Amino acid sequence: MNRGMNNIVVLVAGPFIIYAILALFMGAIPGAVLSKTSPGPGVMPFSPQAQRGRDVYVSEGCSYCHTQQVRPLKQDLVFGRPSTAGDYAYSTPQLLGSERNGPDLSNIGSRQPSDVWQYIHLYEPRSLVSMSIMPPYRWLFQLKAHADVNDIVVPVPPGYAPKGAVVVTTQEARELVAYLKSLKQAPLTSRAKR
Ligand code: HEC
Repeated sequence: MNRGMNNIVVLVAGPFIIYAILALFMGAIPGAVLSKTSPGPGVMPFSPQAQRGRDVYVSEGCSYCHTQQVRPLKQDLVFGRPSTAGDYAYSTPQLLGSERNGPDLSNIGSRQPSDVWQYIHLYEPRSLVSMSIMPPYRWLFQLKAHADVNDIVVPVPPGYAPKGAVVVTTQEARELVAYLKSLKQAPLTSRAKR
């Protein structure tokens, strides 16, 4: 009865074959099919600035707390319409995320289009959302005694603003916010709607 379990070939080859079949059907084939998905109606490539902002998003680990996938569930409708494969045509590798400690960001560009809000929120989330657990990303900003002509000054609310200095954006902050503003779900056509 136990002959198979004592056979080293069965012990090694069995799991290997099962794993290979799973990898093929759950990883390789869906990946190959999805990589051929054409962009959905109205889905645009990122601008070069937003594309660099996407790299900042990845390197700052925003995906650890934020998803970019709206499920076809009632509780997800606050974030936008359900995501479709065509939404991700220019967004590879996709930043779907798996933890939703903060809101889904698939449609944040439509929900919060103000750069000023985004800058203040990145500098100190709690100055806008008092109970926020999002960490402040101060290193995306610079403190200066006086702003230069081309600086974008961030109007951090009193009580959170540094004393005797102004907060100005860095290039990374501007790129990241350009990326966030570009995250807008294009409306689905009636054909694609289900
Ligand atoms: C530790 C978890 C965590 C991380 C990491 C994190 N966030 Fe958040 N984020 C939150 C939470 C919680 C909220 C909701 C409260 C708030 O608005 O501050 C939020 C809210 C937001 C909002 C507003 C969403 C809305 O619908 O109003 C944006 C935009 C945002 N985060 C962007 C980012 C970006 C960009 C990064 C990376 C630089 C990031 N977050 C990293 C937890 C996180």
